[in-house]
Formats: sequence, structure tokens, C-alpha cells
Amino acid sequence: MIILAIETSCDDTSVAIIKTNEKNRTIEVLANLISSQINIHKKWGGVVPTLASRAHSKNLPVVFKNALREAKIKMRDIDVIALTIGPGLAPSLVVGVQYARALAYAYEKPIIPVNHAEGHIYSNFLENLIAGNESAIKFPIMNLIVSGGHTSLYLMEDHGKFTLIGKTRDDAAGEAFDKAAKMLSLGYPGGPVISKLAEQFKPDAAKQPIKLPRPMMNSKDSDFSFSGLKTALFYFLKNFLSENKMTKKIKEEIAHEFQQSVVDVLIHKTISAAKKHNAKTIAVSGGVSANSELRKQIETKAKENNFSILLPPKNMSTDNALMIAVAGYHNLDKKTSWENIDANPNLKLTK
Ligand code: KG4
Ligand code: ZN
Repeated sequence: MIILAIETSCDDTSVAIIKTNEKNRTIEVLANLISSQINIHKKWGGVVPTLASRAHSKNLPVVFKNALREAKIKMRDIDVIALTIGPGLAPSLVVGVQYARALAYAYEKPIIPVNHAEGHIYSNFLENLIAGNESAIKFPIMNLIVSGGHTSLYLMEDHGKFTLIGKTRDDAAGEAFDKAAKMLSLGYPGGPVISKLAEQFKPDAAKQPIKLPRPMMNSKDSDFSFSGLKTALFYFLKNFLSENKMTKKIKEEIAHEFQQSVVDVLIHKTISAAKKHNAKTIAVSGGVSANSELRKQIETKAKENNFSILLPPKNMSTDNALMIAVAGYHNLDKKTSWENIDANPNLKLTK
């Protein structure tokens, strides 16, 4: 079976094509193209929905055409279209939805509506599927989805069986990185720049270290909160700059402490939730799962606590259509006609 996937939920226009082999349950990636809009949004310090929508409209036909060319197939060879219908930015989602509906109508193809968060979760299944050993992944899985729009823990007892265990009460972790970077005049997106700066930090024993809070780290529930961390950084900067000049060294230290605060909270909450719900595997996905420190530290902690750990390939952490194709492959029973497809910006993974 050949699956064409379309993803336009935020600021990445992406089309992927996979070929599945039902007999040995493997997949082959024929194309995975992503057109990023970072250059459009960076001067605003975040994604501007109307600009994102216009860029998707302009780029999607080109990305689609190039994906078919790379896969060396024609639209008539496609069996089904997997499509992100939500959650996400409404003006962005509707571009992908309208394009997929038109394709499905013109070529008489069914559509599988895919939840973007479920797509992130399935980014962790890709490598095993390619290698033909998906069955090596052990359920239940405690999924931490951390991106610009989500910070949630989902227990996955089996394919299609998700329970929401906890989520952020305010900002998402990626959003916190983006806002911190904006306060430090580091540009957008914040995660990669903060991470790079933090790597350069060298502790100075003679100096009092900068300390930021670990919000809700010891609360009994599995929820998160990152807006307090952002506020703490704001007041730290206000105080600091009233008496001192900002230097590259101080920026490195702030980046390091800010990143470690986010990493500490994410790891502590995920390990606690995994223990509480008897998970066998911990899986991290979403844009922030590209963070090297988070990857390194959660891998160590998961192993110490006898959990298997799944991390997506770094280029699969941020938004891409390949993860939507893999999620579509696990939701073939949701195949439907183009008339039943609509964008749902607030789509939930659980009822
Ligand atoms: O999954 P994604 O592409 O889009 C959403 O669904 O939100 O995630 C984008 C987010 C941004 O907030 C970005 O700052 C963050 O992921 N991000 C990172 C890193 N790379 C991207 N955060 C921390 N460290 C990184 N290396
Ligand atoms: Zn995402």
C-alpha cells in the first residue's frame, strides 16, 4: 500500500510518501519533504497564523509535486491520503485540509484523518517499522509530547488506546524556550539557540550560580506549568540589568539554567508517571525532543529505572508528514471520503 501524508498544522509544510508491506509489516520511506517557514516568522519572534496560511498555500503544491517526483510515482498510484486535521492553527490546518479534499475528490482516493499529537507519538515507531521489528516496542508506553504547542503525558496501552495523564496548565515547554529566547534577544525558534548557547557554558566556582525555579516539579499530579519559569526569568533579567551589563557568559549561564530547569521538570514528571502507571517504555516526541540534554538525561534516568526508552531521529522531532504517514498506517480503519473531512483546531487524542 502507498500512503501520501500531508502536514500543515503550524509553520512547516510537509508531504511524505511511504510504501507499506503488510506481510512482514515493514515500511519504506519514498519521500519526506519539509518546507520550513522559519525565515518568515523569525522577525516576529513566533508563528503569525495569517502569514503561515499564505505560505502553506504557496508552498504545498510545490512540496507535493516534488514529493511525487522524488518517490517516482504518480498520484494514481497512491492508495490513501493521511492528513493532519488538528490540533493546530486553524488558518494553517485548512490549507492542508482543502488541498487533500481536492486531491481525494479528483483522484477518488480515501482520506485518513490524523491527530497531530498522535503523529508525534508515531515518530517513535518509524525506525522499528523500517527494520521490521515493531513488535519489539513494549506497551504500556508513557509518552511525553513536548513541542511549541504541547506538553502532555499520554499513557498508550496499545495502538489507539490513549489516556491523558497530565498536561501543561499554561505554556508549553517549547513555547517557554521561544519566549525565553525572545527575552534574551536570541531569535526564533528559541529551543535550538538556547541549547547551543547552554553547551558553551562553563561553571565558575568563584561566582554565585544563577538559579531559576523548577515549577510544579514536586506536585503530586502529572501536570506541568512553565509560565512561572518565564516570569522568574523576566524578573531576574530586570534586576540584573538594573545593575549590570549583559555579557555572552551570563547569557550562556542563563541558557544553561533555563534549559536544565525545563529538563529537570520534564524528566521528573515523566519518570514518576511511568512508575505510577506501570509503563514498560518511555517515549519522548515533539520539537523539544530534539534537545540534546533532554535526550541524554532522560535516556540515563529511564535506564536507571529499568524503562525502555524511545527517542525519534532528530529530524523527526519537529513537525513532518512522515510521522503523519506512520500514524495513518495505524489508523487505516478511519479511512473515509473527502466529504467527511474538516479541520479541527482543538482536536483531542482522548475522549
Ligand atoms: O513539534 P514542533 O515542530 O511544532 C509544534 O507542534 O509545536 O515544535 C517546535 C518547538 C519550538 O518551540 C522550538 O523552540 C522547539 O520545538 N525546539 C526545541 C529544540 N528544537 C526545537 N526546544 C529545545 N531544544 C531544541 N533543540
Ligand atoms: Zn508538532
